[in-house]
Amino acid sequence: MNNFDFKNPTKIIFGKDSIKKITEEIPDNAKVLLLYGGGSIKKNGIYNKVTAALNKYEFIEYGGIPANPEYAVLMEALKVIKEEKITYLLAVGGGSVIDGTKFLSSAALFEGDTPWDILTKNIRTEKGMPFGTVLTLPATGSEMNSGAVITRKETQEKLAMGGPGLFPEFSILDPEVISSIPQRQLANGLTDAFTHVLEQYMTYPVGALLQDRFAEGILQTLVEIAPKILEDPTDYKAASNFMWSCTMALNGLIQKGVPTDWAVHAMGHELTALYGIDHARTLAIIAPSHYKFNFEAKKEKLAQYGERVWNITEGSVDDKATAAIERTTAFFHELGIDTKLSDYTKDYEGTAEKIAKRFTDRGWVALGEHQSLSPDKVEKIVKMAY
Ligand code: NZQ
Ligand code: ZN
Repeated sequence: MNNFDFKNPTKIIFGKDSIKKITEEIPDNAKVLLLYGGGSIKKNGIYNKVTAALNKYEFIEYGGIPANPEYAVLMEALKVIKEEKITYLLAVGGGSVIDGTKFLSSAALFEGDTPWDILTKNIRTEKGMPFGTVLTLPATGSEMNSGAVITRKETQEKLAMGGPGLFPEFSILDPEVISSIPQRQLANGLTDAFTHVLEQYMTYPVGALLQDRFAEGILQTLVEIAPKILEDPTDYKAASNFMWSCTMALNGLIQKGVPTDWAVHAMGHELTALYGIDHARTLAIIAPSHYKFNFEAKKEKLAQYGERVWNITEGSVDDKATAAIERTTAFFHELGIDTKLSDYTKDYEGTAEKIAKRFTDRGWVALGEHQSLSPDKVEKIVKMAY
């Protein structure tokens, strides 16, 4: 097992009817900005519960943060924060609203001229404006981690940021919010969380037995609950396990002491930036090709995953690893997720070269757990995914 430090300061408040507990977490004298997305919270009752709880505070609201939170929209919200002298942010939404709020938390205290630098110059946020979240869509794990991904339409970019100052102070996880989530987003959430685990697991063995079992446990749970939650999002047992699995998939715990990859996300983010494809779907496009291309380096873990998660017990390590990739692709299909770029756009020619060039320009020349994934390899993987 590799050496590690682990600190996760986010308080999780989990369970039915927990939204009202916001009042126990936000300081009484705070001036709160309530941030949300395109309005789903006004249809499913979450908005009413949140505003009822905020009753005792001075608060204003800012809605309209789009999926793949857009820099230009966030810059408008930043003006409100400054003009209204906001002291506390409350994100009510999925990964996009929470990530947008993290950007604002950082930008509100940023001393440079243009907050876009936080993303392009990899400026880590050591301290941000305090914020909490009410999670409405299990998927990203953003509710219990310190990362965010921000999109800029103008330049077709999607870039990540983070730092120890960007953990939410608290996150409310009420699984009953899942009942209003459309099928497309449920499938996205399952796929995103599943791939988060894969990125932190599908590398090479380092004798981290517990981390492997944690990861496999989350994957097995997602596989078990996937058909149930898709069939009936009001099934509380399935919903609560879905929500907690997504949080645990990316709150830092399972990646401690083990190598991680994250190249599937790096390539996937470019597909969202270029074509607007949902984040989770870009992962399902890239992951199978990534694992096929890096087969030799990853086959031991692929075979272990095949055995323990999919019960693939026949054949050699190579046989099991190959079957595990096929089973993963089939799983995405069972969720209703297409796994080829050409399923999403007809204009895919040239995508691989474009992404490889972007990586070269940014100096991303050594991705993956062995720091050996160069832009020429990225180009080949993306082509395999056409
Ligand atoms: O905007 P509203 O109207 O709220 O509707 C949203 C949105 O259209 C809807 N929705 C959310 N909760 C709902 C609901 N509809 C009905 N009932 C509910 N309870 O779902 C749609 C998608 O929401 P979004 O927040 O975009 O989805 P998700 O949580 O998948 O977030 C995706 C974003 O997170 C980033 C992605 O890149 C993408 O920008 N990620 C963030 C990560 C992180 N911070 O750690 C890691 C991830 O890998 C990912 O990159
Ligand atoms: Zn993701």
